[in-house]
Amino acid sequence: MSTIATTKSMQLLKFGRSSQGKLQLREAQIPQAGPDQIVIKIQASSLNPHDWKYYEALRRIYHLPAPLPALTLGHDLSGTVVSVGAKVKRFRVGDDVFAMSLKTGAFGQYLAVAAGQAAPKPRNLPHAEAASLPMAALTAWQALLLASLQDGERVLVLGGSGGVGSQAIQIAKAKGAHVAAVCSTSNVALVSSLGAEQAFDYKKIDVLESGQQFDVVLDTVGTLTPTSVKKILAPGGRFVSTVPNAAIILATLLSYIPGITLHATRTLIALPIGRHLEEIARLVEDGKVRPVIDREFPLEDIDSAIAYSKTGRTRGKIVLSIR
Ligand SMILES: NC(=O)c1ccc[n+]([C@@H]2O[C@H](COP(=O)([O-])OP(=O)(O)OC[C@H]3O[C@@H](n4cnc5c(N)ncnc54)[C@H](OP(=O)(O)O)[C@@H]3O)[C@@H](O)[C@H]2O)c1
Repeated sequence: MSTIATTKSMQLLKFGRSSQGKLQLREAQIPQAGPDQIVIKIQASSLNPHDWKYYEALRRIYHLPAPLPALTLGHDLSGTVVSVGAKVKRFRVGDDVFAMSLKTGAFGQYLAVAAGQAAPKPRNLPHAEAASLPMAALTAWQALLLASLQDGERVLVLGGSGGVGSQAIQIAKAKGAHVAAVCSTSNVALVSSLGAEQAFDYKKIDVLESGQQFDVVLDTVGTLTPTSVKKILAPGGRFVSTVPNAAIILATLLSYIPGITLHATRTLIALPIGRHLEEIARLVEDGKVRPVIDREFPLEDIDSAIAYSKTGRTRGKIVLSIR
């Protein structure tokens, strides 16, 4: 049962026709927990490229002359449970949790989230750092799971300095892999500090011409195709992309058909699985994975945060503090 009355809350970020598709702080009701949900008082969120890509797509729709509801964006959050649904056994009021919510709404003060999408916050992290993890770390975790990464294999992470890549390097390392990363000159030191044993500076060398081969290639940038990646995939190698284009999606579908012999191409769609977040939290508490935070913006300054993310130069994550 919900223990919190429905009241008004400031600081919810919404947009709608009345604001002509712009982001603004508006009042909203504090949600109530459904039977399988927890309501979280959010202390921090983080921005993912998905948030502004989705926002831009929606803006086109929100300019149409149709009555559309205001919407709060955002998936990543860290905060404190204030209300627990009747069927929820894993959490209690007062627990500190972090989550990737399947539904948007994390750019605000309160959100009702399915309990299965949350996990206890790593004990050694403040909310701002924990909030940087969910979507990026889940993407990295699930991509390496999809690739069936084995102890001792060689992994190449394209985009090693980004939100997903910085987590993928550390998680692959924690799983016993030998990790190489592709990044620019200014980020060689960062990827090395995260555990990459080799860094390919894309400003100086094309990894496709390196003559090296990898068991798993994870592309978080979108520069590889199922054809081009063959040059650097070892026999039995797997290619996973978080930025699928039509060729990658087609190759993914074809590689599941029995009798068709392609190297394994996989398209990753990150899922909000709390049990995976628990595994990630364990790695964080064991000191094997750490958040990488580039900048922190107050939620009120979301436009600046989005503009920065759109430059494509983010090192790690952009955190949004919520008061
Ligand atoms: N499918 C899914 O479920 C899913 C989930 C999460 C993310 N994604 C997608 O995955 C992509 C990565 O997400 P993200 O959060 O990691 O993005 P991000 O943090 O914005 O990535 C920025 C990083 O990419 C690096 N970069 C840019 N061009 C590069 C290149 N040619 N080679 C190597 N590194 C390069 C940049 O480093 P430099 O400044 O040094 O170039 C920067 O550090 C996005 O397109 C996102 O939408 C998909």
